[in-house]
Amino acid sequence: MDLESVMGCLNQDGWAVFDSTVVLPEIVIENLGHIIMENDVSIDVGSRSLVRSNKALPPHTDHHLVEYILWYCHEQDVAGGDSILVDGIEVFDRQSQADKDILKSIHLMEHCVFEGDLTQHPMVSEERDNLSLYYSFWMAEGLSELQRNAFDRFTKSVMETEPERFKLPQYWCLVINNKRIFHGRTALSEDSDRFLKRYWISSSKHKKLE
Ligand SMILES: [Fe+2]
Repeated sequence: MDLESVMGCLNQDGWAVFDSTVVLPEIVIENLGHIIMENDVSIDVGSRSLVRSNKALPPHTDHHLVEYILWYCHEQDVAGGDSILVDGIEVFDRQSQADKDILKSIHLMEHCVFEGDLTQHPMVSEERDNLSLYYSFWMAEGLSELQRNAFDRFTKSVMETEPERFKLPQYWCLVINNKRIFHGRTALSEDSDRFLKRYWISSSKHKKLE
């Protein structure tokens, strides 16, 4: 395993896992861009955030400005906490042409995190023939009936897709292309010690809102 094979997997499959004692995460990050946000992913029962709960997370993308997400596993859960990955572009390609066109008209809600953020973002963006997805099924509001039906069919396809599923070992990293690969996790044990560091990476710099 070396940097080249990590970058190769990431380009080809949209995700890669690697041993942080063999390939340094900071070198991978340096190759991908800048860290625009850094978070602890651990259980906090007092938090209202779904990520900080012990609940399962269905496949989704993070903020649209995040091009890559890297998780560094410091401590893994004994029972749960498997990573779940679904290739969103592959699911999108399987939809009918009519549904694809409707999905391109959908805007999903988005939390304002960085300066200039709006409260919503298109689900599908096309940049130089490259499709980018922004997707969380719980962020869909105010859709027309036509949009809702196409969106629900898309979500059903996501849920029915056999995901990549694995448990990230301690001191290993998972890195994904956030515009292509949807990520989730299985539920954690109630008193889980699972502790991941999550890095949001972008090729351009973005200022966080106060
Ligand atoms: Fe997420």
